[in-house]
Parts: sequence; structure tokens; C-alpha cells
Amino acid sequence: MMIDLTNKVALVTGGSRGIGAAICQQLAHAGASISLTYASDKRSAERCATNVRAAGRKCIITKTAVSLSQNVNSVVRNTLKEFGRIDILVNNAGVWKAGEIGKMTEQQWDETLDINLKGTFLFCNAIAPVMRKQRWGRIINIASTAGQRGEARYSHYAASKAGMIAFTKSVAVELAPFNINANCIAPGWVDTDMTADALRGVRRKRIESGIPRGKVATPDDIAGAALFLASNLADHIIGTTISVNGGGVLI
Ligand SMILES: NC(=O)c1ccc[n+]([C@@H]2O[C@H](COP(=O)([O-])OP(=O)(O)OC[C@H]3O[C@@H](n4cnc5c(N)ncnc54)[C@H](OP(=O)(O)O)[C@@H]3O)[C@@H](O)[C@H]2O)c1
Repeated sequence: MMIDLTNKVALVTGGSRGIGAAICQQLAHAGASISLTYASDKRSAERCATNVRAAGRKCIITKTAVSLSQNVNSVVRNTLKEFGRIDILVNNAGVWKAGEIGKMTEQQWDETLDINLKGTFLFCNAIAPVMRKQRWGRIINIASTAGQRGEARYSHYAASKAGMIAFTKSVAVELAPFNINANCIAPGWVDTDMTADALRGVRRKRIESGIPRGKVATPDDIAGAALFLASNLADHIIGTTISVNGGGVLI
């Protein structure tokens, strides 16, 4: 069975760059129309939209602070106005900023939790009624290895991602009777702007030596899992987390 997302509409948060942009491309190539959000990098958002349109699909872009409900509600409204439905929601927008326990400010904690976890809640809360009415939907939340095993100096980030995993399991049970599947993807190291500094020079070699597959993931490696979860191939997959980490958590 081929993956065919013709006539489906996907809303991808943080679709301007990195993993989000790769997800937009793969969903568009499978036939989906795209509504993507970005925070400040309009040029990258427009580049991603151009690539989606080059694949023959429609794309709208919206600058969105994902932790503000007014912003979230207005993206959802605009997407429905443009496309009339939302079939696939990908909560991908996120931040990863170091913060050592004992020194972390309340503001650092709140920023990470607000963007990564509250943003995911706000989008799910706004779109669940739309998907319920359609009696079909796919929610794909981009968590992290950090949410599975913790991450020193990033406890706020790890807590936000573990929160996403537990949140997803919970809403998956509520939504499954409506033919709505909610799942997470937990990427390990991925080559994006987010990790560019951390993966520079000798540190990259050290990190790669801790990955059995011997390399850091590309954004497309993560997008492949999202495409699968968005498709009918994943009809019976509910509330799980797909690890895409090259074996990195196993050693
Ligand atoms: N890279 C990795 O190794 C890795 C590993 C595990 C999990 N992840 C997760 O994967 C997701 C994507 O990561 P990435 O590596 O692709 O990151 P990235 O290259 O830094 O891109 C982040 C995306 O999120 C948007 N964004 C950032 N802050 C935002 C805010 N305050 N409000 C709304 N949108 C915001 C950005 O918009 P602008 O372009 O406008 O800035 C951009 O589209 C994140 O949730 C991250 O935690 C990444």
C-alpha cells in the first residue's frame, strides 16, 4: 500500500526549519496541503512554503507564538478558512536551551515548558473538536530522547518532553473512539540549527561514537516516521512513542 495523503490538510508547528520543514516536505510529497507556523524566521518559512508549492500542494504560513491561546486559535481558524479541515496536527515547535539545576531561573523553566508542553496542549485542545467532527485525525507530537531517559543540564526540556509523552498517551485514549490517533516521535540527535553548536568539531565525533548506527539523524529520518504515523499504515497505533535515535538509548 502506498502512502497517499491527497485531500488531507496538515498543520505543522515550527515548520520553517529543521525537522518541521522536512515533515512539511514529506507530507506535501504524499499529497497533503500544509499550514505551517514559525516564530520569527519568515524567510525560512517562505522557503519551506515555496518547496511545498513546488510539489504541487497549497501552503499557508503564520507567525505564531505557540504558547498563546489567542495565537493558536487564530492559526486554527485561518487554516479552516483556507482549507475547510485539519486532518494532521504535528506539534513540532520547540526550544532546547541549557539550564543547570540550582541556577535555572523561573523564566527559563517557564519559557521551555510554555513552548514545548503548553503549546502542544493548546493546539491539541483547539483541534480535537475539529478532528472529532471529521471522525478522522492524526496528532503527532515531537518529543525527544530527553523525555525518555532525562538529560543533565536540560531538566526543564526533559520534563517538557516527558510531559508531552504522558499527555499524548492520555489524549490518545480519549480520542481513539473518534478515529483520531495521537502518538509521539522521540528523536535522538538530529542535524538542525538547534544542535549546530553542540555538534561542532570533536564533540560530534564523541556523540556519534555513542550512536550504534554511527551517525546523527537527518531531519528526513524523523520526517519518515511522521509520514508513517500520518498514514493509514498506522491505523492501529495509539499513544505510543516511536524512537528514532539510531540505537542511541540502547548503550
Ligand atoms: N534537533 C534535535 O537533535 C532534536 C532532538 C530531539 C527532539 N527535537 C525536537 O524536534 C523539534 C524541532 O527541532 P529542530 O531541531 O528542527 O529545531 P530548529 O531547527 O531550532 O527549529 C525550531 C522550529 O520551532 C520554531 N520555534 C522556535 N521557538 C518557537 C516559539 N517560541 N514559538 C513558536 N515556534 C517556535 C522555529 O521557528 P523559527 O524558524 O521562526 O525560529 C522553528 O520552526 C523540537 O520540538 C525539538 O525539541 C530535536
